[in-house]
Amino acid sequence: MPKSIIINKNGGPEVLELRDVKVGSPGPDEIKVTNHAIGLNYIDTYHRSGLYPIKLPSGIGLEAAGKVDEVGSNVTDLNKGDNIAYASVPLGAYSQERIIPAKIAVKVPNGISHELAATLMTKGLTTNYLITKTYKLKAGETVLFHAAAGGVGQIFAQWANSIGAKVIGTVGSDEKIKIAEENGYVSVINYTKNDFSKEVMKITKNEGVTAVFDGVGKNTFQKSLACLKTRGMMISFGNASGPLDPVNVPKDIQPKGLYLTRPSIAQYFTNKKELQAGADSIFEKIKFGKIKIRIAKKYKLSDAKKAHADLESRKLLGPAIIIP
Ligand SMILES: NC(=O)c1ccc[n+]([C@@H]2O[C@H](COP(=O)([O-])OP(=O)(O)OC[C@H]3O[C@@H](n4cnc5c(N)ncnc54)[C@H](OP(=O)(O)O)[C@@H]3O)[C@@H](O)[C@H]2O)c1
Repeated sequence: MPKSIIINKNGGPEVLELRDVKVGSPGPDEIKVTNHAIGLNYIDTYHRSGLYPIKLPSGIGLEAAGKVDEVGSNVTDLNKGDNIAYASVPLGAYSQERIIPAKIAVKVPNGISHELAATLMTKGLTTNYLITKTYKLKAGETVLFHAAAGGVGQIFAQWANSIGAKVIGTVGSDEKIKIAEENGYVSVINYTKNDFSKEVMKITKNEGVTAVFDGVGKNTFQKSLACLKTRGMMISFGNASGPLDPVNVPKDIQPKGLYLTRPSIAQYFTNKKELQAGADSIFEKIKFGKIKIRIAKKYKLSDAKKAHADLESRKLLGPAIIIP
C-alpha cells in the first residue's frame, strides 16, 4: 500500500506519522498522481503545530511534483502520464500516491525535473506574486528581504536582480552570509549579531528602502518599519519566528504614511489560468538561467520528522525536498 504522513494531533515534529493509506480512484474533477518529489515549506510547520488551524486527522504538505496515473471523467486538460506539479490545499502532499483536484495541477514542461518543480512551485509562485503583483519591483530600487539564505530568499534575490533591482538580505548565521551573497544579495546582515535596521540605514546612507519583504514576522516586524522610506511598503508574508503582535496604526504606520499588507499565495493565483501562467514564468526563468536552484537537502518520506526539526532549527542552507 502507498505511504503517507498523517497527523492526528498538533504538536512538534513527533506528531508526523508514516502510515499505509488507501488511495482509490479519482472523482469526476480529480486526478490520481504518483508523487516523485515533495516540497518542504515552512508553512507545513504551521499546519503541523496548529499556528494555522486545520481539521484533524489530516495529511500534511501542499506541494509536490509527479506523474498523472488516472484522470476523472470531467478532466480534459490533463492526461495519464503527464508530468505535473501542485502547491495548494487540500493538504496531503507528503505521500507516495494521492488524489487531488485537477484544478490545482499545472503541467511541467520537458527539461524541468520533478525535483526542481517540487522545489520551485510554492517558493517560485510566492516570489512571483511578491515581486510582480504585491509590489511592482522596479530596476534601480533597493529593498530588504529577511531570511535571505532560505528557500524563498534564494529565489527572491535572483528574480529581483533579473529585473535590475538590488536586495539587502538578513540571515541568522555567518555561514549563511556567503550563501545569500551567491544568490545575488548586494549586502547581507547577520541579524542575530547586528541591529539590522541600523545596518540598513548605514548601507542606504540614511535613505532607507522602498519595501521590506518579511517572512520572519514577530522578531523582525518593528525594526523593518524603521528601515522604510516615507510611503514605503511593509510586506509581511510569513511568521517563521512567530505571529505578529497587533499593529498600532497611529504609532507604527501613520508617521511615515506606510503601506502594510499581509498577502497569501492563494489570493494571487485564483484560477487555473493564473496558476499555469505563474508557474510557466518560473519555469522560463529556470530555462533561461535567470534563476538557478541548488537543492540544499533531500529527505526520505520516513524522515519527515527530521526534515521539520531541521527547518525549524534554522539548520537548512536553502530549499529542501522530500523524496517519497
Ligand atoms: N504568504 C505566502 O504566500 C507565503 C508562501 C510561501 C512561504 N511563505 C513564508 O515565507 C517564509 C519563508 O518560507 P520558506 O519555506 O522558504 O522557509 P525558509 O526561509 O527556508 O526557512 C525559514 C527561515 O526563517 C528564518 N528564521 C528567523 N527566525 C526564525 C525562528 N525563530 N525560527 C525559525 N526560523 C527562523 C530562518 O533563517 P535565518 O536563520 O537566516 O534567520 C529560517 O531558515 C516563511 O515564513 C513562510 O511561511 C509565505
